[in-house]
Amino acid sequence: MKQFFILCVFAFASASAFVIPSLTLDPLQQIKRIVPEIFNLTDLRVDLDDIKSSISPGKCPEATELPEPFKLNSFLGTWYEIKRTGQIFENGLRCVQANYKLDQAAGNVIVNNSGVNPKGKPVATIGTAATTDKSNVFAVKFFPLSPSAQYWVVDTDYTGYSLVVSCNNVFGFFNINDAWILSRKPSLDNEIIQKLEAKVIELGFTKLRFTDTPQDC
Ligand SMILES: *[C@@H]1O[C@H](CO)[C@@H](O)[C@H](O)[C@H]1NC(C)=O
Ligand SMILES: *[C@@H]1O[C@H](CO)[C@@H](O)[C@H](O)[C@H]1NC(C)=O
Repeated sequence: MKQFFILCVFAFASASAFVIPSLTLDPLQQIKRIVPEIFNLTDLRVDLDDIKSSISPGKCPEATELPEPFKLNSFLGTWYEIKRTGQIFENGLRCVQANYKLDQAAGNVIVNNSGVNPKGKPVATIGTAATTDKSNVFAVKFFPLSPSAQYWVVDTDYTGYSLVVSCNNVFGFFNINDAWILSRKPSLDNEIIQKLEAKVIELGFTKLRFTDTPQDC
């Protein structure tokens, strides 16, 4: 029952939090997936281990600005997902890319997350990222009515690598967090990966476990 409660809160409070920047399914398929996950107890045990490592007690650490002002224009374009946490909606998705484009009219960033599902079918999901009072932190939504999820650029050199974290408070007594290591190329230096993984722990996300995203398409 406790597991069921956690999953319900998790699903309602941050259905969108786990889908940045990589997404398995289009929104409709995703809703279909979320609903049985909430109500079908037989499925719960399967997914609980994946969720557990993303839930921490207490509140998220305060997002910090980068040492230099964030250069959004240099950050736009295509990033390859090298490693990710947050497996719940990402069963077997390969060759995940995130593409960021400026929507001049709305002042938002248009997010296109794409990948190849286990059946070999290309999938893509479009979201929007709105600016916040911190230049390197965005509020991302994939469904119009969903709560927005944090998208915090923790570290980037714009041309090589990025570390992105999403930490979302749930009722102030626990938080759900995830992280992504991105590269401008389908691979990334091991040394850089290790440095970024260490940074995630320094921030206090000690439970997060990264897995490799295959970039073999
Ligand atoms: C519940 O889960 C079982 C096992 O995965 C599945 O066979 C069944 O179709 C699911 N029921 C619903 C309503 O999704
Ligand atoms: C999203 O990205 C995929 C993969 O690059 C592409 O095929 C698709 O056309 C893009 N969708 C939009 C709306 O730009």
